[in-house]
Amino acid sequence: MSTRIIIDTDPGVDDALTFLLALASPEIQLEALTTVQGNVTLEKATRNALSVLELANASHIPVAQGCSHPLVKSPHNSGEVIHGWSGMGQSNLPEPKSKIVDSHAIDYLIERFLAEPNEISLFTIGPLTNVALAIRKEPRIVSAIRELVIMGGAIRSGGNITPLAEFNIHEDPHAAYVVFHSGIPITLIPLDATYKCLLTSADVARLNKINSPIARFVRDATADYMAFYKQYEGFDGCALHDPLTLAAIIAPELLTLAEHYVSVDISGGVSTGKTFADFMKVWKKPPNMRVALDVKGREFVELFVERIMSLRGA
Ligand code: BDR
Ligand code: CA
Repeated sequence: MSTRIIIDTDPGVDDALTFLLALASPEIQLEALTTVQGNVTLEKATRNALSVLELANASHIPVAQGCSHPLVKSPHNSGEVIHGWSGMGQSNLPEPKSKIVDSHAIDYLIERFLAEPNEISLFTIGPLTNVALAIRKEPRIVSAIRELVIMGGAIRSGGNITPLAEFNIHEDPHAAYVVFHSGIPITLIPLDATYKCLLTSADVARLNKINSPIARFVRDATADYMAFYKQYEGFDGCALHDPLTLAAIIAPELLTLAEHYVSVDISGGVSTGKTFADFMKVWKKPPNMRVALDVKGREFVELFVERIMSLRGA
């Protein structure tokens, strides 16, 4: 039986790759997308979500629009530097024909999880604003979410938006604090693991040996993203941050997971948004999540390419 999931997202190139991987994976039933500002503004994020679904012949999947601002901070949308002005690199996505659902993402999440407690898992690949507000509006959602898999944080690794902090958590650290300490069963996929999953230009060329709209989209969407990595991080490729969350379902054996007490700095200083694990158990608190500190990265990338090759698109 496949695992039913909702993805909360701020698309973003690697967000789009996550939807495609989910659609290409028989172990997963993608039930809905909810959008949040992050990499780009909320309007662009929502349009991108609808357009990628259209490209993948999946416009029947509902999209609910969520929050345009983090809880306390101002939005930066600094992801545009990496993901391009539109959020989708150099790709030209079709104008979406489908519309968003009537409910706000917060209400949509509450409605869906409370209607079928413990049946659906939530995957978050953007800032945690929508989820934090859903918890505050309807605390019963905590026991209704089967599992929450979060792309976010940098535990032993350095940050990618400040020297210490990872983008999704830094964009709304207060929301991350609420979610981390909510009691929902969490699996965290931080930069420690995602930077080991590098999609190279050779992988993209291999994928484009088949002539499909999806392969062309991956090539065009990742071109600037890869140029950014080459310029600033010195390698030929881009990290599959968000797609790696799906390994929790499709290839859990590739992840090295350990239970830890993890929190996030919201004190407002230089380390704001830094996620940290109490490895030495000095605070004597019970673990609040499973953390992926390592992954068989190349094996995951191979699986990704193989699955994406199976999608043809519109
Ligand atoms: C995260 O930041 C965003 O730019 C990506 O989409 C991913 O969710 C990686 O730090
Ligand atoms: Ca993202």
